Amino acid sequence: MKILLVDGTVVGSKTGAILKEIQIYISKEEPSLQLEILSLSNYEHQIVDGRPLNKYNEDMQEMVTKIEQADGYIFASPIFQGSIPGVLKNAFDFLHPKALRYKPVSIVANGGTYQHHLVVENQLKPILDYFRALVTPNYVYTHSSHFNESNEIIDDNVHERLQELARVFVKYCELSMNLPKTSIDQH
Ligand SMILES: Cc1cc2nc3c(=O)[nH]c(=O)nc-3n(C[C@H](O)[C@H](O)[C@H](O)COP(=O)(O)O)c2cc1C
Repeated sequence: MKILLVDGTVVGSKTGAILKEIQIYISKEEPSLQLEILSLSNYEHQIVDGRPLNKYNEDMQEMVTKIEQADGYIFASPIFQGSIPGVLKNAFDFLHPKALRYKPVSIVANGGTYQHHLVVENQLKPILDYFRALVTPNYVYTHSSHFNESNEIIDDNVHERLQELARVFVKYCELSMNLPKTSIDQH
């Protein structure tokens, strides 16, 4: 299975740092998974305005194709204004409504305040639920104090939660493999 680890921001580096950690834990848990990091900061973004995909720049076409062709995802997001960054929401807006259907998804997020961890529950999960993704019940929220100056995660508890997330995510990958992506209903 191809797993895309999406760094959902074009600003800062802690979000990407969590992704690199979870990548290590997932590959230890299940070495057969193909893991690739997709950083939104590597793309020249255009706002979704309803035109067909082939009328957007090559970056957007590549980003959408990579996301839609993956079999599972780790989405990493910083908290911006009590929500997710616009660039990540815009990336979701490009996708076909069935693009993530029954595919395994886990979330890691980072914020400048502890109080905003429920942004994952209240803002990011509903978008993934719309897509009918298989979102793992656990996610990992980090705070700036969990990192040292080199942006390494120095909190043991965060490492344990990332390991647990990797363990559950791999099980969701197995579930997804055996679940046909076409459904009986027409929706
Ligand atoms: C425009 C902007 C808005 C932000 N809004 C919030 C917020 O509402 N809540 C919060 O916890 N952190 C907020 N932050 C802090 C970011 O979540 C934090 O910088 C991010 O997790 C990544 O850290 P890094 O920039 O050091 O990589 C905001 C940062 C920016 C740039």
